[in-house]
Amino acid sequence: MDTVDTRATLGDPSKCGHVTLIDHATGKQYDLPVLQGSEGPKVIDVQRLYRDTGYFTYDPGYTSTGSCDSQITFLDGEKGILRHRGYAIEDLAEHSDYLEVCHLLLYGELPNAGQKAEFEHDITYHTMLHEQLQYFYRGFRRDAHPMAVMVGVVGALSAFYPDSTDFHDVQKRRLATHQLIAKMPTIAAMAYKYSVGQPFVYPRNDLSYAGNFLHMTFSVPSEDYKISPALVRAMDRIFILHADHEQNASTSTVRMASSSGANPFACIAAGIASLWGPAHGGANQAVLTMLQEIGTKDHIPEFIKRAKDKNDPFRLMGFGHRVYKNYDPRATILRTSTHEVLEEVGIKDEPLLDLAMELEKIALEDEYFVERKLFPNVDFYSGITLKAFGFPTSMFTPIFALGRTAGWVSQWKEMIKDPQQKIDRPRQLYTGHQARPYVHLDQRL
Ligand code: ACO
Repeated sequence: MDTVDTRATLGDPSKCGHVTLIDHATGKQYDLPVLQGSEGPKVIDVQRLYRDTGYFTYDPGYTSTGSCDSQITFLDGEKGILRHRGYAIEDLAEHSDYLEVCHLLLYGELPNAGQKAEFEHDITYHTMLHEQLQYFYRGFRRDAHPMAVMVGVVGALSAFYPDSTDFHDVQKRRLATHQLIAKMPTIAAMAYKYSVGQPFVYPRNDLSYAGNFLHMTFSVPSEDYKISPALVRAMDRIFILHADHEQNASTSTVRMASSSGANPFACIAAGIASLWGPAHGGANQAVLTMLQEIGTKDHIPEFIKRAKDKNDPFRLMGFGHRVYKNYDPRATILRTSTHEVLEEVGIKDEPLLDLAMELEKIALEDEYFVERKLFPNVDFYSGITLKAFGFPTSMFTPIFALGRTAGWVSQWKEMIKDPQQKIDRPRQLYTGHQARPYVHLDQRL
């Protein structure tokens, strides 16, 4: 089993006309092909633009640039739609489990019963880490952020699995993708255990993927750890909601790092580093910090005012998205799930949830947020849910990284199988000095 190669059945993007570029300086005209995917806006194919015209495009932050074609995830930001391989995120969150979604992202289809059992077995039997890696953990300061530890440990796996660099071999490629999905919960849980000074807990093969993660994080050798099935299900759903999100910053980082043919473990470490930032996955930690800072409902207007002030760097964390100009469907699912988790753990009254809901209400009625189409994103409610599980805020982004690993490895696999794949190498609009004569040290002012 390597892949259901859907490219063959779904086909390549189709050409559907062209746009004409007129260079008024020279009077020349150039026809640029227009491509249409299976859904979404048409795109102008500029691959030959420089060769034919001598011009580059200029697009800082890639707000208008598609970097690849992909068959994995579809997003319609205006309508608030997210689908993986055609399946709505709402259906996957309700009916599937995370490993099924991993299979879907990696292989193009939901697994049948036999494939599901085989995939689960393969993942389960790769959850242990090389014992030597424990020494790696012990080299970190106890107060290191778990994301720093994860970047280091996942990058270090490239030294433990050097064969994975030979990823054009189907078996080695499959092994690397499965190892990454399998080992990420162990790596994240060990980062947590190290930070609190508790012994590392080995994975257990009789537990589910999410159940195992909770076990490795919260159990201690001195007593039994009972996991509520409702919490396991809620944890699993959080992984599903974070599994993939097309060409976001961390996924694009993984693709770009890998485009040179580098080791996949090292490239996933690069993705973890990118995810860490507060404008991306780090926002879930920042939301909780912000809510704690706001403290009470009467302070909300003050923070809304700060978020709107262009001279103040403060932004409403968990609000806004490059693609969604509507409610992030993942935030809708998580808001409901938050209530369920709080009920399950017996928290009747969570002031931070009340505060978050009030903040959301006020922001969604405010002209500034309405005009800019700023809605809550996936990070807005995930922190409150994870806090209810007992995770410290520093673990929020590692949990995002854990879930997103499925997307990173699937996008990586799709990229290296793409016959058009080449090294990513953007160009620039140079605004520095023009050529000037060298100044010797004794002549410098
Ligand atoms: N609070 C206040 N104003 C905001 C916010 C916010 N959270 N988000 C965007 N804006 C404003 C911008 O100031 C800008 O205003 P202007 O048009 O008057 O200049 C306008 O909305 C457009 O914002 P951009 O920064 O151009 O949007 P961009 O697509 O580059 O950024 C981002 C998207 C980074 C997510 C941004 O909305 C943000 O910083 N949000 C807070 C951090 C966050 O929640 N990140 C998680 C994103 S989801 C994820 O990665 C999983």
